[in-house]
Amino acid sequence: MKKYLLTLLFAIAFPINAAQSTVASVEFLHWWTSAGEVRAANIAKQALEEANVHVEQQAIQGGGGDTAMSILQARAIAGTPPTIAQLEGPAIQSWAALGFLYDLEQLANQEHWRSQLYPIARAVNQFEGRFVATPVTIHRLNWMWVNHDVLRQYNLSPPDNWEALIDTFKTLKRHNVQPLAIGNDQWQIALLFENLAFGYGGADYYRRAFMDMDEHTLRSATTFEILSLFREISRLIQPTISHIRWNEATQLLIEGKHAFQFSGDWVLGELLAKHVAAPEAIGCYQAPAKHTGFIYNMDSFALFNSARSSRKTANTLARALSSKAFLTAFNQAKGALPARKDIDLSQFNPCSRQAHHDMEQAEQNGRLLPSTVDSMAVSPIVQQATTSEIYRYFNDESIGPEEFILRLENIPRGK
Ligand code: BGC
Repeated sequence: MKKYLLTLLFAIAFPINAAQSTVASVEFLHWWTSAGEVRAANIAKQALEEANVHVEQQAIQGGGGDTAMSILQARAIAGTPPTIAQLEGPAIQSWAALGFLYDLEQLANQEHWRSQLYPIARAVNQFEGRFVATPVTIHRLNWMWVNHDVLRQYNLSPPDNWEALIDTFKTLKRHNVQPLAIGNDQWQIALLFENLAFGYGGADYYRRAFMDMDEHTLRSATTFEILSLFREISRLIQPTISHIRWNEATQLLIEGKHAFQFSGDWVLGELLAKHVAAPEAIGCYQAPAKHTGFIYNMDSFALFNSARSSRKTANTLARALSSKAFLTAFNQAKGALPARKDIDLSQFNPCSRQAHHDMEQAEQNGRLLPSTVDSMAVSPIVQQATTSEIYRYFNDESIGPEEFILRLENIPRGK
């Protein structure tokens, strides 16, 4: 049955009479819709236009890309995938296993990807030892963005542990300032939890509990303490939280209506696009943690094989989207680190240079961690189930730690 389905999907993806035309017009599906993201996506469009490719963008709302991925699946099954799609993590290998992606191994060899990429970017973009996607960004997710003016006004400083953060939230609330810029959506809430889990529990705990889903670690006192802190935070912000998008939350942070935001460095891209001085006005601090660590996710571009695309076009696209010049300009706008090691970061924002420094240190100390929430560490099924349990716990006081842990334990682990 499985073999039959694969054959069917292959037949859809590679019709026998597929016209291998030299398509000069391609569709580009991604979920970059905020000011900083649009600026970065336009840099990609421009790089492709310089390579004589006309680009039609299909930008789908939704941080984390859940909606974009559902649309991509529907289109691929219908036999009309876009030529270029933004992808993350293990999903790249799943698409490759089904035969949807162009193999980029030849270009990767010509361009020395193996020696130029960071090891974390090498692994995730290969299937059976061959490159099947072009690595673009490395985003840091354990950032705490801080409005300095707001903190100064109440004589507060950026906290470096979660208990102090909660005290700071309480002080702000007493002065009628909303402490946290966050929308009540699964992805944003789960990112906050992931920051707390690593910051409070440490790297080994994070790996064992949320990557290996080890029962003993999940049932440990650390999990109960983390859940209790998470409950406190939820009680402090629940009364006023709404369903805003992450970039709307950043706007409230910029305006000083909220004091903190925990999110990846796409926030930096947003600040730069809006000409906000970072790190002077909005500071970037590692989210409170016992040690320096780096939680990452990465964006890649995958080139989908269909009747409307050709290998020649795929190569042109991949070449343009992996060049040093493109990766430099794109990542500067995006707020991320380039996936290639051989890029000079001296003109990057100080927050990015800090991220790079912390990434190197984290790598040496075994604290370079894939995001479980942002599709990097676990299969999409486990990721979605975990995220929705975290969200449910955050929003429903009647769920206690025991029940939360039990629900996580019951998530099927299959790939
Ligand atoms: C992507 C980023 C994007 C962010 C918010 C993450 O999943 O990796 O590129 O900026 O979502 O939309």
